[in-house]
Amino acid sequence: MDTIIASELQGGGFDREKERKAFDETKAGTKGLADSGINILPKMFIQPSDERVQNSSIHDANLRVPVIDLAGLDNDIDREKIVQEVLYASQKWGFFHVLNHGIPMDVLDRMIEGIKMFHEQDLEAKEELYSRGKKQVEYNSNYDRRMKAAIWRDTLAVNCSYTDHLDPKLLPPICRNTILDHIDEVLKLGNTILELLSLALGLKPDCLKEMEGDKGWTCVYHYYPPCPQPELALGTEKHSDSSFITVLAQNQIGGLQVLHENQWVDVQPIPGALIINIGDILQMISNDKLKSVLHRVRANRVGPRISAAFFFTGLATSPKTCAPIKELISEQNPPMYREFTIGEFFANYFSRSLNEDRYKHFMI
Ligand code: OGA
Ligand code: NI
Repeated sequence: MDTIIASELQGGGFDREKERKAFDETKAGTKGLADSGINILPKMFIQPSDERVQNSSIHDANLRVPVIDLAGLDNDIDREKIVQEVLYASQKWGFFHVLNHGIPMDVLDRMIEGIKMFHEQDLEAKEELYSRGKKQVEYNSNYDRRMKAAIWRDTLAVNCSYTDHLDPKLLPPICRNTILDHIDEVLKLGNTILELLSLALGLKPDCLKEMEGDKGWTCVYHYYPPCPQPELALGTEKHSDSSFITVLAQNQIGGLQVLHENQWVDVQPIPGALIINIGDILQMISNDKLKSVLHRVRANRVGPRISAAFFFTGLATSPKTCAPIKELISEQNPPMYREFTIGEFFANYFSRSLNEDRYKHFMI
């Protein structure tokens, strides 16, 4: 099997660009392929051998991403303990689950259901939103063309990283209200997490807010259909997030993995919990004290898996600059990154190749 795939990937009559274009023109996404009943994965989705889940490094089934209960936040003693847990998780894992995060279950459940309904409605209802980076609210599959193999997922993206104004009428009617409720709640929770992270870094509580970590955002609502040959595909390629922090909600299918001490660790869904992870911008302004960690999503034979990744990105149009926070640097610990604006950070993100070091352009 593998030798056949290898020769096909090396040419053998397969025109990747042509296959991609034809796929794009259907506007039906990977959901459309899954619905067509295929039982062989089209070649454009076949990952190079070293990116496939069973071939890439050890997989430790006993390791667990930290779980932090925010229930005692209003009480000084519990709060101190929570801050220490946040610090540990953000330094060692770059990822943690939060329980009792304050977002009503019902808001999360309705959002997941709304996203499922959006992706599962007739093509005519969603194809007008099919676009790649041109609209503030858009639907697509395989947004990032720098990847060699395509990924097995479709996405509805809402981009408020360039303007903090969102006209609700741009949101698809089928999930408009559920998305608006989700956004409202996550913005509140994000502020709480940014405060906890400021305290964890030994700074005043509103420090990350003053750096505009709460300003711009993008939310991607993913739909991962059942995949006919999950061992050859990926739902999301290995990457780190270009954000201050990310707040991730998911249904109970599972598939997210994080790279921890060189091992891929499964992030088991916990009912009612949300996942928080540290992004590249926070790693840089914390001068590498906090870690933006690589993660990916396995493709699955069952589904759909639904997730919502809400990136606190900062505003790309803001003149304000970011740099390692001065309280965190000293003679022994000099700044590792130069000053940059969020606009510059995103321009670099989209212009570099995927194998290029994500921090290189900003390192001193
Ligand atoms: C992302 C991401 C994970 C998921 O969109 O950046 O990592 O569970 N998503 O969908
Ligand atoms: Ni991510």
